[in-house]
Amino acid sequence: MNSDTFLETKAVTKKFGDFTAVRDVSVKFKRGELTAIIGPNGAGKSTYFNLLTGAFTPTSGEIVFNGIDIAGQPQHRYTHLGIAKSFQITTVFPYLSVFENVRLAAQARVVTFDLFRPRTAYREVSEKADEILRRVNLIGQRERIAAKLSHGEQRSLEIGMALAADPTLLLLDEPTAGMSPEETRDMIDLIVTLSADRTVILVEHKMKLVMSICKKIIVLHQGGLLAEGAPDDVRHNDTVKRVYLGQKAV
Ligand SMILES: Nc1ncnc2c1ncn2[C@@H]1O[C@H](COP(=O)(O)OP(=O)(O)OP(=O)(O)O)[C@@H](O)[C@H]1O
Ligand SMILES: [Mg+2]
Repeated sequence: MNSDTFLETKAVTKKFGDFTAVRDVSVKFKRGELTAIIGPNGAGKSTYFNLLTGAFTPTSGEIVFNGIDIAGQPQHRYTHLGIAKSFQITTVFPYLSVFENVRLAAQARVVTFDLFRPRTAYREVSEKADEILRRVNLIGQRERIAAKLSHGEQRSLEIGMALAADPTLLLLDEPTAGMSPEETRDMIDLIVTLSADRTVILVEHKMKLVMSICKKIIVLHQGGLLAEGAPDDVRHNDTVKRVYLGQKAV
């Protein structure tokens, strides 16, 4: 493995019965590089994402993280290794405040080694939660009930909860899905900011959106790797253009 390769999939394949959703995908992800996985509907993006996060076990192939094959390991092991994904909305506690949601996520991380000094631990966890809320631009919504947030704010809250685990690798599946143009811009700004301190890999349907912010683009099509490279290379790739022809790549 190349020294700056952080994560690598080697001929990774995922089948659902007879159907192959991801086929022989070999990709190297570099440390600190903001990478987007794009492709048309049904290309296998979410399936590949679920393989990277450990939610799915590959049918064959390897997922190598910092030199170790982690395919098939339990989810808590991924968290322990520093891999986090944006939580699904259903895991946000809707009737707790924004602050409590992040505080609980942060507490899950800190409580074990602060067991004997609960008061200090509470303060540390609270401070950490506030720091995260500032990062994800929700400090102004601190006391609001999570259920009352806008869709965009809820997605930011999920990211805040994922950040509570101090991940070195943050994985986001369509973070701008269902967002207004303004919410989308804010989310993109947030992703760029977060990528300064950690490796971020995102799945995104909107091709143009990621071209401007990502260093590397992975294009999946019908489960296979169609192209990979810098945004400009991918943009001018004839096969990619053909696949996206007739689609509004926004
Ligand atoms: N659990 C499953 N069981 C059977 N088939 C599945 C399952 N999950 C996904 N598929 C199939 O695998 C293919 C790839 O699906 P996937 O969700 O990975 O695509 P995607 O690129 O994320 O699409 P979208 O842009 O719509 O989110 C699709 O044909 C889908 O129907
Ligand atoms: Mg998907």
